[in-house]
Amino acid sequence: MQIQEPSEKLGVLIPGLGAVASTFIAGVEAIKAGIAKPIGSMTQMGTIRLGKRTENRVPVVKDFVPLNDLPDLIFGGWDINEENMYQIALRTAVLKSTLLEKIRDPLENLSVMKGVFDNQFVKKLNGNWVKTGKNKMHLAEQVIDDIQGFISENKTEANVMIWCGSTEVYLQKSVVHSTLKNFERGLKDDNPHIAPSMIYAYAALKLGIPFANGSPNLTVDIPALEELAHNNDVPISGKDFKTGQTLMKTILSPGLKARQLGINGWFSTNILGNRDGEVLDDPDSFKTKEESKLGVLESILQPELYPELYQDIYHKVRINYYPPRGDNKEGWDNIDIFGWLGYPMQIKVDFLCRDSILAAPIVLDLVLFLDLARRTKMKGIQEWLSFYFKSPMTLPELYPEHDLFVQLAKLKNTLRHIMGEELITHLGLDYYTE
Ligand SMILES: NC(=O)c1ccc[n+]([C@@H]2O[C@H](COP(=O)([O-])OP(=O)(O)OC[C@H]3O[C@@H](n4cnc5c(N)ncnc54)[C@H](O)[C@@H]3O)[C@@H](O)[C@H]2O)c1
Repeated sequence: MQIQEPSEKLGVLIPGLGAVASTFIAGVEAIKAGIAKPIGSMTQMGTIRLGKRTENRVPVVKDFVPLNDLPDLIFGGWDINEENMYQIALRTAVLKSTLLEKIRDPLENLSVMKGVFDNQFVKKLNGNWVKTGKNKMHLAEQVIDDIQGFISENKTEANVMIWCGSTEVYLQKSVVHSTLKNFERGLKDDNPHIAPSMIYAYAALKLGIPFANGSPNLTVDIPALEELAHNNDVPISGKDFKTGQTLMKTILSPGLKARQLGINGWFSTNILGNRDGEVLDDPDSFKTKEESKLGVLESILQPELYPELYQDIYHKVRINYYPPRGDNKEGWDNIDIFGWLGYPMQIKVDFLCRDSILAAPIVLDLVLFLDLARRTKMKGIQEWLSFYFKSPMTLPELYPEHDLFVQLAKLKNTLRHIMGEELITHLGLDYYTE
């Protein structure tokens, strides 16, 4: 495949500058300053085996595929309150203030653009740093102007947009989402089924900028925006960063299935106290998240193929807003399994995780890989990036692949394919034949 070289600078445009975005941006600044390491990032720390095991070729991913280096990244974004990135990072309190002090200058220089916001879509929030316009098309045009201003100010030839904004209320695909023509008419008519996150995505795709969706909202997962992505040769990906409890679920359940152990119940509950937790306290936003979290098990376990093992599974997910915990979530799983002759057993998982610490490296990898996809002329849904998402986008005729290890193989084989290396099947019989 022909791959364009990375541009000198890569603009990273983020609607929603909260806990995840600030942890990502401050993290990149800390890594650039040499005071922290990019732990959790596949592009920065992961390796990829090439050729036969006897060849010993195992480069780090960033040395194998042409990606931007961290100092090339330039950040910009939108939110609904007027704070700079340093103030946001201090307020969200994920990273220590002593660390933030060391990278205060670049964070303070990052100003926040006025957001496109409608409280009907995030009922728990209100902001005073919000754009006004005569209709949704007018708001989209203002976002396009913001992006163009950012590009000319920072001279970023390449750019990526990644939604790190709050989870919006549950929306189903409807007529206005079905074609680009309907969607553009809906923008002009202020159609109530067009969410703010869709307006940012529309603006990015209009300008040929790849878009990723870190939350479970529909956003770019609608035919109208897929059509725009295809027309403008733009890669898109989503939805909902795979962190915390769902990450554990997609690690554990493939293992249980691989050993043909049955499951009849999986109860997951969480407490978290950040703003994301507060937003998810609204039942309509929780419904969007719940849909995204529930799909995982059924898709991995395939009860239609293994009715005796997985047909009667009772799967429940709960999220409870509990302010004292801040961003340090606790997720409990009780898994009722059964083995040989149907004898029951239980597994308990108690994951004391840090949500944004798990999400930040995903943001970094997605930004770098989406720009790689654009330079490789890959357009539309990037299924190979499913590895990073709870609810991966796919073509309508395909079921999503949730198994973390299948997703990993898909991602690495895609990188090998892009670089013209042999795909790895793990067959290995040739080592044993003369
Ligand atoms: N932290 C994780 O591990 C994780 C995992 C998966 C998904 N997510 C999703 O990522 C998103 C961000 O999570 P977070 O913990 O940073 O939440 P957060 O509440 O700290 O940040 C979200 C920010 O988005 C802003 N916002 C909301 N609507 C906006 C709009 N229309 N335009 C501009 N800004 C807007 C809010 O004001 C807030 O500052 C959420 O949707 C969350 O569900 C997070």
